[in-house]
Order: sequence, then structure tokens, then C-alpha cells
Amino acid sequence: MATETITNAGPKIRTKLPGPKAQAVLQGDAKFISPSYTRSYPLVAKRGRGVVIEDVDGNEFLDFSAGIAVVSTGHCHPKVVAAIQKQAAELIHMSGTDFYYENMITLAERLGKVAPMSGPIRAYYGNSGAEAVEAAIKLARYHTKRQGIIAFYGAFHGRTMGALSLTASKTQQRRRFFPLVPGVAHVPYPNVYRKPEGMTAEEHIAECVRFIEDRVFKTIMPPEECAAIFIEPIQGEGGYLPAPAEFLRELRRICDTHGILLVADEVQSGAGRSGKWWAIQHAGVEPDIITIAKGIASGMPLGVTLSRAEIMDWVPGSHASTFGGNPVCIEAALATMDVLESEAIRNAEVVGNHIMKRLSGWVKTHPMVGDVRGRGLMIGVEIVKDKKTKATAHDERDRIVELAFERGLLFLGAGENSIRIAPPLVVTAEQADIAMDVLEECIGILEKQQ
Ligand SMILES: Cc1ncc(COP(=O)(O)O)c(C=O)c1O
Repeated sequence: MATETITNAGPKIRTKLPGPKAQAVLQGDAKFISPSYTRSYPLVAKRGRGVVIEDVDGNEFLDFSAGIAVVSTGHCHPKVVAAIQKQAAELIHMSGTDFYYENMITLAERLGKVAPMSGPIRAYYGNSGAEAVEAAIKLARYHTKRQGIIAFYGAFHGRTMGALSLTASKTQQRRRFFPLVPGVAHVPYPNVYRKPEGMTAEEHIAECVRFIEDRVFKTIMPPEECAAIFIEPIQGEGGYLPAPAEFLRELRRICDTHGILLVADEVQSGAGRSGKWWAIQHAGVEPDIITIAKGIASGMPLGVTLSRAEIMDWVPGSHASTFGGNPVCIEAALATMDVLESEAIRNAEVVGNHIMKRLSGWVKTHPMVGDVRGRGLMIGVEIVKDKKTKATAHDERDRIVELAFERGLLFLGAGENSIRIAPPLVVTAEQADIAMDVLEECIGILEKQQ
């Protein structure tokens, strides 16, 4: 099927899934590829345009996963493709760690203009989210000369040993990898939907704050030895769960009181996905460091650790990466920023509100929908067995995601029992309606089986 025939209308499923060509790929994968990957269903991608992915058998899917919240401008946005092609013909690599090239500075300056912190910034370039987090851990320790780090239950910061030490999302991610990096304390992330019975949201948030000040700082980690608090302003892998604004403000206060750095991991929530450049901006809180990856370069591998300039005081040799800040990836990021600024961030807010409006009724009308939350195009739908007990419906959630795939809609799970709605930020309201129709149908099928 020719690329040009990919349309942006609804899905078109033409074969049994997986189709014959997809099956051949799956066999090869089973033989040659690391079995550590977690595939939810057998999508074998061949081409992508906008919100549409075509598989090897010519089936067309609406992609509401955006390749795990990465293709912010849609698949193969023409401006991003043109920027990649132009740069690839000129200079593919020269290693910014040992040499110089101009676009490293261009991107840093542009990121500085939209950064959630005021004042001058500096940028460190890596290749992934985990590397951005790894650099933030090392920078926080280097700058503060302290070792301790606070992270949150439910957090996902990546899988390299440092980032994994902050990750507290699923036990399997840590199993047989101990010992991890010492000095990390995990604390509760507020979850207003799952707050203790009889407690108000405000009391629950205050309790999470007290846990840090009255428990952690008084029992296991002296505050003057704490280098940083790492937080996802919207937990991603943890279930698409936004942190209440008041909680983020309290973290800022704690950090200011004790000279601790506040690190916002915006790898998933950043680059416009929440309807603002950065999710932390919804709370009006300025972090000291942010980690950026996924959506910033529309699928080209780029991680950025951005800090207030005075924090990045490490000396030559302290940290670097051969490929970090690859010139082709940087051009992809600059083109991505053009698209985000001209239309996509605004669209994320508008279409996100459109989806939320429709979904907010589901908590009342659907027995298995326990909670709907999120910002912009980062929306979580929590699936429960029972509204009263809020018992998590993990297998049922997985089945809903599979049923949607069979109908040509690509969703991913998040956390134990949530479905993430994370389409490219250029999605239309019409596409969103098609996707929500399918999602509602699939939830309805599971509800009938209850
Ligand atoms: C918030 C957050 N931080 C870090 C990472 C790690 O990014 P990567 O998979 O690019 O290493 C992820 C990946 O899902 C993430 O969601």
C-alpha cells in the first residue's frame, strides 16, 4: 500500500490480526530479540503519518499511544522529516562532547526561552529519558555535594541503574538487579482518588508532605544530606496521575527550606503534552532541573537535562556521552518546537479538554471506570472491578486494550489498571471521538462480562 494512501480518517482493519506478514515478524522477534520487552499486542508497524500507523499487512490504526508519548507532532511530520533529511546530508555526527557545532547552542537557547525556570539555563545532552535522569542525579549530587535523593512510589524514571534506583513502578523492573544506587528514599505520591477513607483531598496532600518532613527527615535522611527531590508532575507509567498543584508548591517550599534541588521529570509530561510546555507550569512552580526526552524530537533519540545555569557547575570530564546532542536529533527537536509552538500545544489543550468533557461522564455511567484524570493529551482512565472497593482490574484493563487493538485503536496501559490516552498532539477532535467511541465500546464489552 502506497504511503500517500494513508488517510487520517478512522482505522481500517483489512486482515485478521496479526496478519500473515506480521506473523513472520513476530516469529523472527521471538527468535532474535531480547525477551525483556513488554508488548501488549502484536502491532508490527511499517509506516506512520500523523495519527495513523500502517502495519506490514496494510492495516491502518489510529495511534493513541504516540509510540509511548513520543511522536508529539505525529508520525513523520513533513517539517520534522525535512529537517532530518537536510541535516543528515550535511553532518550526521561529530560528538559535541569533544567538538563544537552550532545547533547544540541554538536548541539550548530555545529551550531556555520556554523553560519553566526563570533566569539563565544550561543544557546537558544525552540520548534518552533515562540518560537525562541519570545526568540529573549526578548533577544534583555534584552541585550540592550531598548524596540523598527522594523519589516517589509509582515513579518511573528509567531503567539504567541510577534511574532505576528512583523508579518504584513495578517490582519486575527491579527484580534480580539489586543492589541499586544507595541513598534513595521513596515516599507516597498523592492520589486523591485512592486517598484513605474519611480524609479530604487537602488532608491527604498534607499527610504526604508530612511524610517527608516528619518521617523521612526525622528518621532516615537528614535534610542537609538530601541533594534532590525527583518528581514527575504527572506520573506516567504510574497511571497518568497528576500531582496536585498544592503538593508541588509544598515540595518547592521544602526544597527552599533545606537547600534541596527540585527536579521535575518531564520526560513524558513535557514538550507540550499537558497543554502547556511543561506540566509543572500548571502549578506555577519553578523546578531547579528538568529532564526532557520523548516528545521533544518527535521520535529521534534525544535527552536533555536542563538546569538553572548556576547549578551546572561540574567541570570537564564530570559527565558526557558520545552521541548526546546528535546534530540530526537536534534539528528534529528544533522542527518539533516550531510545530509545537505554532499549533500543537494549543491543540493539546483544546482536544484534551474535548476528550475530558466526554470522559468525565464515564465515571457515572460506566461501572468499571473508577477515575478519569489528566491534563491536555495526557489522560488516564482507571479501570476497577468495583466502584466501592476500587479493586484494581488489571486483566480487564489489558483485555480492553487488546479489544481496542482488534478494532484498530492503539492504546497502552499505565500503572496497574489504567489506560493512557496519549495521542500525537496534532490529533483532531474527530479522531478523538472515533477513538473514544472504540474505547467506550471495549469497556462496555468487559462490563457485560462482569
Ligand atoms: C517520566 C519518565 N522518565 C524517564 C523515562 C525513561 O525514558 P527512556 O525510556 O527514554 O529511557 C520515562 C519513560 O517512559 C518516563 O516516562
